Amino acid sequence: MASSPLLVCVLLLCSCCLIALGGNERGFVVVPTSTSSPSNPAACSPAPQGMQCNATDEYESKFQTNSEVLSVSVTSDPNRASMPLAHRHGPCAPASVAATNRPSRAEMLRRDRARRIHILRKASGRRITLSDVGVSIPTSLGAAVDSLQYVVTLGFGTPAVSQVLLIDTGSDLSWVQCQPCNSSTCYPQKDPLFDPSASSSYAPIPCDSKACRDLDPDTYANGCTNSSGTSLCQYGIQYANEDITVGVYSTETLTLSPQVSVKNFSFGCGLVQRGTFDLFDGLLGLGGAPESLVSQTAETYGGSFSYCLPAGNSTTGFLALGAPSNNTAGFLFTPLHSVPKEPTFYLVNLTGISVGGTQLDIQPTVFSGGMIIDSGTVVTVLPETAYSALRTAFRSAMSAYPLLPPNNDEDLDTCYNFTGNSNVTVPTVALTYDGGVTIDLDVPSGVLLDGCLAFVPGPPDGHTGIIGNVNQRTFEVLYDSGRGHVGFRPGAC
Ligand SMILES: *[C@@H]1O[C@H](CO)[C@@H](O)[C@H](O)[C@H]1NC(C)=O
Ligand SMILES: *[C@@H]1O[C@H](CO)[C@@H](O)[C@H](O)[C@H]1NC(C)=O
Ligand SMILES: *[C@@H]1O[C@H](CO)[C@@H](O)[C@H](O)[C@H]1NC(C)=O
Ligand SMILES: *[C@@H]1O[C@H](CO)[C@@H](O)[C@H](O)[C@H]1NC(C)=O
Ligand SMILES: *[C@@H]1O[C@H](CO)[C@@H](O)[C@H](O)[C@H]1NC(C)=O
Ligand SMILES: *[C@@H]1O[C@H](CO)[C@@H](O)[C@H](O)[C@H]1NC(C)=O
Ligand SMILES: *[C@@H]1O[C@H](CO)[C@@H](O)[C@H](O)[C@H]1NC(C)=O
Ligand SMILES: *[C@@H]1O[C@H](CO)[C@@H](O)[C@H](O)[C@H]1NC(C)=O
Ligand SMILES: *[C@@H]1O[C@H](CO)[C@@H](O)[C@H](O)[C@H]1NC(C)=O
Repeated sequence: MASSPLLVCVLLLCSCCLIALGGNERGFVVVPTSTSSPSNPAACSPAPQGMQCNATDEYESKFQTNSEVLSVSVTSDPNRASMPLAHRHGPCAPASVAATNRPSRAEMLRRDRARRIHILRKASGRRITLSDVGVSIPTSLGAAVDSLQYVVTLGFGTPAVSQVLLIDTGSDLSWVQCQPCNSSTCYPQKDPLFDPSASSSYAPIPCDSKACRDLDPDTYANGCTNSSGTSLCQYGIQYANEDITVGVYSTETLTLSPQVSVKNFSFGCGLVQRGTFDLFDGLLGLGGAPESLVSQTAETYGGSFSYCLPAGNSTTGFLALGAPSNNTAGFLFTPLHSVPKEPTFYLVNLTGISVGGTQLDIQPTVFSGGMIIDSGTVVTVLPETAYSALRTAFRSAMSAYPLLPPNNDEDLDTCYNFTGNSNVTVPTVALTYDGGVTIDLDVPSGVLLDGCLAFVPGPPDGHTGIIGNVNQRTFEVLYDSGRGHVGFRPGAC
């Protein structure tokens, strides 16, 4: 359109004016450099707002292992169950998983790219099947999709032992590594392996059962595993080409908080795991398909859950099952959609983006594929045209700072050198969703990842993108399937 170049010019000029006027203009936020680029807060400061957080001796005593147990948060709402959540590599994660091997940013983004590709392929209807599971487990430990960043601690079994699980809205079936397992079949974890034989509530699911037949064979390659004469239900999950868990589909009592346990929870007792999983004990599936914790507890919690991902790795957030029963004040809601044939995913409809308070000129059809909102993907994937409009406006608003040259190892192409600045003036970035709700991302934690704009260009216009977890930081994100909407409450942790 003839008017577009003019509009872009006006936008650029305007952003520059605001910059020149200083950091207090509407649409910009001055932040200390320590919060916009890597720094070193070493201690964990808990206290999520909106959810009281109390350590409970009673709960800790239920966990008989020597694993660290985080304080258990209890919401005063009797219709919800909540638990603390932490960045997996930060000081708030149980020491057992936080201690070692934080991947480099490049490695983390490489894993994130694999996850993004995997999710978008699935969402576009191309099935990803696990072939020959249990027959030939790939032995190479190369590429993986493990970019998941947040962990919760739950109790498994009777008596309950604590298990540190990654949360994942992009998958459904939960699993933990189980005994018997050795160094060639399981990856090293810091907590003791879950031992089903030590739990009075553990039961394997028979192969010849409805529960086993109900597992989607394309997703779980399920079949029978004949162990000591009985035929048990085998599941297998392949997260991407090489991350695999295979084991016995089982039921167990899950303890979410002192007052809340889920009986007969179906999960995978993992006997063979391959990939770049490290140190955590398993995964908690929060997707929309029947195998997830959310679906299994839908009678009690209405298929709703929420979480707050903290701004940094040194504060805790929370994961809660159930929607606030009578207090949705503070939430902004947009309709929740699903992806055809992929009930796992949660889809919302982005309609616009603004930078520094100015709406970008992006045709609505660019967003017509919707956006999957995901806890495990790090950076947000935008359709091409939307990304380039965002990048242009953001770079213009940040023109006071030197751009770093592109790094071939990474997809992020808008990274800054803030050396020598004690503070940085960052434009606000807002995402507008269907229904006209505008979410001002937290600045800088929701916009910048280690000094880089936390967005990447993805599919062609009109195709599905992904809202990554950086953009969600500090918001309580409520996935309310029962009421068919997603809510965002700012400043929740
Ligand atoms: C925690 O975050 C800070 C700031 O981003 C980073 O420098 C540090 O390496 C992180 N800690 C771990 C263990 O990843
Ligand atoms: C948490 O502990 C404080 C102090 O002991 C107490 O006042 C508060 O009621 C507790 N909150 C919950 C939800 O148990
Ligand atoms: C619901 O709201 C009422 C009045 O505001 C309040 O007294 C009550 O505690 C709330 N219930 C829950 C479960 O939050
Ligand atoms: C590990 O366990 C598998 C299956 O039980 C067994 O075949 C293999 O020999 C064991 N490997 C080692 C190193 O003990
Ligand atoms: C396992 O046992 C079941 C029932 O006894 C049988 O139908 C099935 O063929 C066996 N599977 C294998 C792989 O041996
Ligand atoms: C437990 O769950 C399994 C699988 O979903 C089901 O077959 C079984 O009937 C359930 N048992 C009880 C006691 O609810
Ligand atoms: C999302 O919004 C776009 C543009 O407003 C529209 O074309 C598309 O149909 C919407 N998608 C859904 C699932 O509502
Ligand atoms: C960042 O800027 C500082 C000072 O201007 C310079 O010394 C340093 O080399 C720059 N770093 C990179 C990675 O370009
Ligand atoms: C930001 O840094 C500049 C130069 O270092 C300083 O003059 C200014 O006062 C700082 N602004 C704030 C809000 O800290």
